[in-house]
Amino acid sequence: MATQNDDVIGVAVVGIGRIGKVHCCNLLRLPRVNLLYIIDADRKAAEDFVQQFNLTATALHIDEIEQAYGDESLQAVIVCCPTNMHEAHVKNALQRGKAVMCEKPLSFSLNAIMDCYQMAEKNGKPLFCAFNRRFDPQTSAIRSRIPDAVGKLKVVKTISRDHPRNSIEYLRISGGIILDSCIHDVDMLLWMSRQIPKTIYAIGHAHFEDIRGIGDVDQVFVTMKFPDGAMGHIDLCREAVFGHDQRLEVFGSKGMLVGQNVRPQSYEISDGTGQSLPPIHDSCMTRYNDSYLQEMIHFISVVRGEATLSVTGRDTMVTTLCCHATNESLSTGLPVDVLDFVKKKFPELAYLLNGQNGSC
Ligand SMILES: NC(=O)c1ccc[n+]([C@@H]2O[C@H](COP(=O)([O-])OP(=O)(O)OC[C@H]3O[C@@H](n4cnc5c(N)ncnc54)[C@H](O)[C@@H]3O)[C@@H](O)[C@H]2O)c1
Repeated sequence: MATQNDDVIGVAVVGIGRIGKVHCCNLLRLPRVNLLYIIDADRKAAEDFVQQFNLTATALHIDEIEQAYGDESLQAVIVCCPTNMHEAHVKNALQRGKAVMCEKPLSFSLNAIMDCYQMAEKNGKPLFCAFNRRFDPQTSAIRSRIPDAVGKLKVVKTISRDHPRNSIEYLRISGGIILDSCIHDVDMLLWMSRQIPKTIYAIGHAHFEDIRGIGDVDQVFVTMKFPDGAMGHIDLCREAVFGHDQRLEVFGSKGMLVGQNVRPQSYEISDGTGQSLPPIHDSCMTRYNDSYLQEMIHFISVVRGEATLSVTGRDTMVTTLCCHATNESLSTGLPVDVLDFVKKKFPELAYLLNGQNGSC
């Protein structure tokens, strides 16, 4: 006879930094989910979190991870450590028969991403790459109105300016602005247009000395042209002093959809000097709070077998491929023909672009 506990999904979180804490807090909000383990290279960080929230979860150092994987009630692992450690943790969890949700980018290496998805398939376990913006209520509402509100799509634009600026320690191991940050916007352009770009052109500049010092840039413009003639544009920056600036515009033959910045408070001040508004969200952690919750609900539903993955392995691969093409343009200063680039640099992945004129 099934007991009540048969229905409970046991979860471990690997990496209790900025995003790991957000995911833990969301897991604690979900019914029939048991946060069993918090695992980090810094044991004290895991212990402090458990203590702070008075959790029953066990805090472990990564060297003790086998203790978690040996636990049959552990069914799912959320990988939130620095990107250079994703692949190892994803593969380890999949090999031990766990479902995996992994932060973006899944890996810097396309081959590693492919290996991870193949392992997931072989083990019959879901692997979910956390492109959280797809789960943002405002963003998904806008997409649901394409094409009825805009007609034939002509332009998709994002403005994405971060706040607060990441530490140089984070940026040094982040994989660079395109794979670490712009990947969200690249994914948005592909997801909104439902196409893979034919051409990508990117320019950038390092305004911050320390960012130039690590060989990266902090301001980027990316332009894309899609097979049906629609165009995409990304205006991305590592720091906006006034808050986490996130805007989206979709323009077409019938009209336009605009996603403005979201404010935690919605009042307006009028006085003798005019009108003003309270600040926009301070960081992605609050701006995209709803999306982080919704993506977790989705992942847990997939683990329960109640939903199928809405971000597929192909989606993850194609978005990451386009980021590599963007990096190529950034470093050469030339537009990149995506199909030629893939055939030359990643011939084994060219089949992914078979739907070049179709859906993404
Ligand atoms: N989807 C989003 O909006 C979003 C936002 C922030 C970060 N991220 C992604 O999440 C990941 C983590 O970013 P963050 O900002 O939380 O970083 P962070 O530096 O705040 O936290 C990383 C945590 O991982 C721990 N850690 C280091 N090495 C480890 C290892 N080998 N095994 C386990 N834990 C280890 C660190 O001690 C730290 O607690 C990155 O891949 C980043 O791209 C995604």
